[in-house]
Amino acid sequence: PRPIGVAVLGMGNVGTEVVRVLTDKAADLQARVGAPVVLRGVSVRDLSRPRGNVDSAVLTDDPASLVTRDDVDIVVELIGGIEPPRTLIRTALQAGKSVVTANKALMAVHSGELSEAAAGSNVDLYFEAAVAGAIPVIRPLIQSLAGDTVNRVAGIVNGTTNFILSEMDETGADYDEVLAEAGRLGYAEADPTADVEGHDAAAKAAILASIAFHSRVTANDVYCEGITAITSDDLAAAKKFDCTVKLLAICERIDADGAERISARVYPALIPFEHPLATVNGAFNAVVVEAENAGRLMFYGQGAGGAPTASAVTGDLVMAARNRVLGGRGPLESTYASLPVAPIDDV
Ligand code: NDP
Ligand code: HSE
Repeated sequence: PRPIGVAVLGMGNVGTEVVRVLTDKAADLQARVGAPVVLRGVSVRDLSRPRGNVDSAVLTDDPASLVTRDDVDIVVELIGGIEPPRTLIRTALQAGKSVVTANKALMAVHSGELSEAAAGSNVDLYFEAAVAGAIPVIRPLIQSLAGDTVNRVAGIVNGTTNFILSEMDETGADYDEVLAEAGRLGYAEADPTADVEGHDAAAKAAILASIAFHSRVTANDVYCEGITAITSDDLAAAKKFDCTVKLLAICERIDADGAERISARVYPALIPFEHPLATVNGAFNAVVVEAENAGRLMFYGQGAGGAPTASAVTGDLVMAARNRVLGGRGPLESTYASLPVAPIDDV
């Protein structure tokens, strides 16, 4: 069979691990896909930095040159932020390439236009890694729960803030030191303000709410409060009430004056020790889904970091590659419902 060509845009925390998997597990991936999966190019911003044993012939500082190449079937976007990823992804989709991205900031605002571009070209747009790192939660919501009615999705969806809060709580560590450590460990965003101010969790809440409730919710619709005002004294006070503090994302269907609406919000909350979310520590995440027939489901695992995130990215990549080999596309997000989002002031 014809090889499936892959371009990886970005070789930072996540991209490095994705390239490693593509290289080290090439034989396994070929067996799973039914065709060789070949790395055609990798883009970085700074070509002068050492990139391990990556063949310099595949490296470029011009990502745009990769996304329309004839020998590229799948573009994996791991740069982050809105631009240049938005333009690169749209161009790739319009050129008939499937796209895999971990970019929650982008998908939380522009998933509508990008999904339309994917539909127009009959290609895949997958983003499992955009929410909760290694934890499979997007595909279960889109696929496994497609016949159920989800009423609530809530949990801990930011590894950096959970790491900070649990380290401060357990060891009394200093906020700034733990934040720096989260950066070193590859958990934090390039600009960690997005993590600590709650914007990263709000982007993930928007993505989860869109999928769970078959609507379009954007990051701007989500009430957002981060952890920058939480002190060690707050954590000590919480302990006196047998509670801990976690940054929660909560998305639910609500009844607002007789009309069904979506409420989506992110804020630090007191969690009693006996609650399952209280035991989620470090960069781990947990997402609880409540559905009419399934009841309560809990998804738990590593929510950040290069290798865990690469697991989700390469999972999407194998699915997109298989679709290329077999023909067809999917699973697809379905956003038919268009439920209005409750105004933030009403939350
Ligand atoms: P990094 O900042 O570590 O890596 C970004 C990569 O993109 C680097 O290789 C960088 O080049 C390149 N790059 C940055 N800006 C540009 C630009 N303007 N043009 C071209 N290339 C550029 O990010 P991460 O790997 O941590 O994250 C990548 C994506 O994955 C983001 O969307 C992030 O939100 C998401 N994500 C990250 C997770 C994590 O735990 N880290 C988990 C889940 C999702 P250079 O190497 O030369 O600096
Ligand atoms: N910065 C993000 C976090 C990466 O800490 O959760 C995973 O999306």
